[in-house]
Formats: sequence, structure tokens, C-alpha cells
Amino acid sequence: MSDSMKLSLGDKQLDYAVLKGSVGPEVVDIRKFYAQTDSFTYDPGFTSTASCQSTITYIDGDEGVLLHRGYPIGELAEKSNFMEVAYLLLNGELPEAEAFDDFRYTITRHTMVHEQLASFFSGFRRDAHPMAIMCGVVGALSAFYHDSTDIHDPQQRTIASHRLIAKMPTIAAMAYKYSVGQPFLYPDNSLSYTGNFLRMTFGVPAEPYEVNPVIEQALDRIFILHADHEQNASTSTVRLAGSSGANPFACMAAGIACLWGPAHGGANEAALNMLHEIGRPERIPEFIARAKDKNDPFRLMGFGHRVYKNYDPRATVMQKTVREVFKAMNVSDPVFDVALQLEEMALNDDYFREKKLFPNVDFYSGVILSAMGFPTSMFTALFALARTVGWVAQWNEMITDPDQKIGRPRQLYTGPTKREYVPLGSR
Ligand code: ACO
Repeated sequence: MSDSMKLSLGDKQLDYAVLKGSVGPEVVDIRKFYAQTDSFTYDPGFTSTASCQSTITYIDGDEGVLLHRGYPIGELAEKSNFMEVAYLLLNGELPEAEAFDDFRYTITRHTMVHEQLASFFSGFRRDAHPMAIMCGVVGALSAFYHDSTDIHDPQQRTIASHRLIAKMPTIAAMAYKYSVGQPFLYPDNSLSYTGNFLRMTFGVPAEPYEVNPVIEQALDRIFILHADHEQNASTSTVRLAGSSGANPFACMAAGIACLWGPAHGGANEAALNMLHEIGRPERIPEFIARAKDKNDPFRLMGFGHRVYKNYDPRATVMQKTVREVFKAMNVSDPVFDVALQLEEMALNDDYFREKKLFPNVDFYSGVILSAMGFPTSMFTALFALARTVGWVAQWNEMITDPDQKIGRPRQLYTGPTKREYVPLGSR
């Protein structure tokens, strides 16, 4: 392989260094391109553009591989737990016992939110979408924790990171409680990260809440599956917001806003709605035909991915987890049967095969979250809770990257050229 790329543009001969990562495609370093050529490159959606260097997460979309700090997602989902994965993503290595205890202790002791933040919620309508509340409340954290907003102080960055990871379940549970008109529950530090979240969501102050270990473990696994996914839209949003020096709480609010979109974090809500709309296996062919019809905007939600052109490895774990939870809880859901059959039919259909459209993580997550008792509007909030770990890790990496610059893309301008202003009466 060459370590430079030669390019001729008009009469100019250009030579660009090719950077090699530890694994994955090589990257042509075009940072001097504009200075040398007076031209920009055009890449809407960043399909061919590496926006940063990162050591956190690696994806091989063709092979269906996802590694966090080198560890395969399937192995982490099976053998680790969300807190350990959070430590790994933040610090680069799996913790030793003492470091892990310290980390868990710190996160547990940051789970309460400022008491005044609770009154913030009453400014929202009861039927507000939890993500609308999360955007507002998480952004507002910067108004409550002034002592951790100096991004140039490593200690403040660490405290802000711990606060965000610790408080996100409390805020998400409060958003849910507010929507159903029940009182907020304070965190219980004797519970695990995920057990505590379940209690704050489904418990009531009037009686003790017993965490179901099967649901606790399954939800913890779902959090692991959503913890990070390299430079996806919301993570890139967090990095872009942070590149201007914005404080981490504001950056996370930006990430939440991006994640809310149906093509990103909102897809599991959309996938479950679609499965309900299909309703019974006999109707699957009709929906597959619609997804293939160029004149119909309908897409199979939970299918396809910008990066994975193979089975999303998270979908494999998710499918297994749904089976386990349904078996342990002794429940069944016709929507799960529709999902299984829809997957099989799509995987055997030429359209989906040729376009390499496979189920993504969201295809099954709605089914399982709904079985656990979460309303569909909470799905993306749960995703935001888990992805906060990735956002925080990526934000920290960006701040300490010596190559970091304010993110400022260019454009191909196709609007009117300079013209003279015509006064209102003369138009
Ligand atoms: N159903 C039917 N056709 C599809 C689907 C789908 N779900 N996804 C892509 N296609 C088709 C497109 O129509 C397009 O066809 P064409 O080449 O004939 O025009 C082709 O496949 C490529 O699609 P693009 O939209 O160009 O692919 P892109 O990489 O930009 O989009 C995306 C990826 C947004 C995820 C897309 O597959 C999609 O909309 N899927 C449904 C939504 C979804 O599940 N999102 C979750 C993503 S995972 C996550 O955020 C955690």
C-alpha cells in the first residue's frame, strides 16, 4: 500500500499523506487541500470523511464487527456490565477490582440531582415527550453545576463526566414519572446503576420495589449495546458542539436533540410502531412491497444502517435477549413473532440482499423495552441514557486531542450571486 495519494487537479500535481490506523481503512490527509488548490471537497453526510482520530470504538460494517477499546461487543454484552463498560470507554482499559469499586462508588454518589432541578420539570406540559424534557433539563445542568463547566480543567471535566453518567438515569426516570403524574423517587444507593433506574422508573414511594434480576440484567445489556458507536450523528453533534468550547452539559443536550430523530435514536420507537401496524404475519408481504416501492416513502424501520452492510452485531445480542426475557417472564407478544418473520422474509428478499439491508439494533429493542413496561416515548430516552457514556468519552477525547479545531465545514454555494437590493415599493 502506498503512503501517499497523488492527485492532479488542472496543472497542479498534489501529494497527500495516507494515514494508517491500527485497523480499518486508510485515511487520506487532505487538511492542506484548500490551501493548495483553492477548492473544497464535497461529502454530504460525511460518507467518506473521517472527522477525527479516535481510540474508543471500531466498527467494520462489512464484517459486522463492533469493538470497544478492542473488546467485541458480543463478549462485553455477555460477560461484562454497563458500569464496567462505562469505565472501559472512559479510561481505555478494563478496571482492576479497586479502581472499579471506586468508580462505582463515585457514580453512585452523584446520582441525586440538585433539588431545585425537580421544580424545573413542572414547567413542562404533562404530555411532553421525554426527549423534549431531557434536552431541556440536561442542558440546564450547566446552570446548576458551575463548578464543573471549565473545560480546560481536567478535574472539572472528570467531575462533569461522572455527574452526567450518574444523573442521566435520575433525569430520565423523572421525565417518565412526570408524564404519568407520579412523585419522583430519590435514588437508592444500595442498588446497581440499572436496578436503581428501574426502581426510580417503576417504583412508588408507598411501597418497596423489588428489582427483577432478569429485567435488570437484560436492561443492563441493552445499555451496553447502546453505550457507544464511534462517530454516529449524535456523537458527531456532541463533538461539534464541544469544539467551540461549549460546556459538557450543553454538548450532551445537543447530542440528545440529534438522537431524537427517527433516522437515529427514534428508530426503535418507529420500528415498534411499524410492527404494531403490521399486526399479523399475513400482512408482512404488503409492507415489504411498500418498502421496495420507490414511489412510497415507507421504509422498514429497524432495517439498514449507514455503516453496517452486514448483520448489526448488536441486533444478534438483542434478539437473544428478547427470547431470554420472554422466557423468564413467561410472556409472549405477537409483535415478536411478526418481527421474527419479517426479518426472515426480508433477509431472503433480493431487494434487501442486494442493498445489504440487515436488521439493526433497533429492530428488536422496542419489542423488549415494551415487554419490560416502558412506553414507546421512553425508548429514545433510554438510548440517550446509555449513549451518554459514549458521548462523554468522545467529548473528553476531543478536548484533549492536539489536532482539535472548531468544527467548521465548508459548502458548495449554489444560491444567487451578488445582486442589488430593490426597495419594497419597487419590487
Ligand atoms: N427500507 C427500505 N429501503 C431502504 C431502507 C429501509 N429500511 N434503508 C435503506 N433503504 C434503501 C434506500 O431506499 C436506498 O435505495 P436506493 O439506493 O435505491 O436509493 C438504499 O437502501 C440506501 O439507503 P440510504 O438511505 O442511502 O442509506 P443510508 O446509509 O444513508 O441510510 C439509514 C441509513 C438512515 C439507517 C436507512 O437505512 C434507514 O432509513 N433505515 C430505517 C431507519 C432506521 O432503522 N434507523 C436506525 C439506524 S441505527 C441507529 O441509529 C441506532
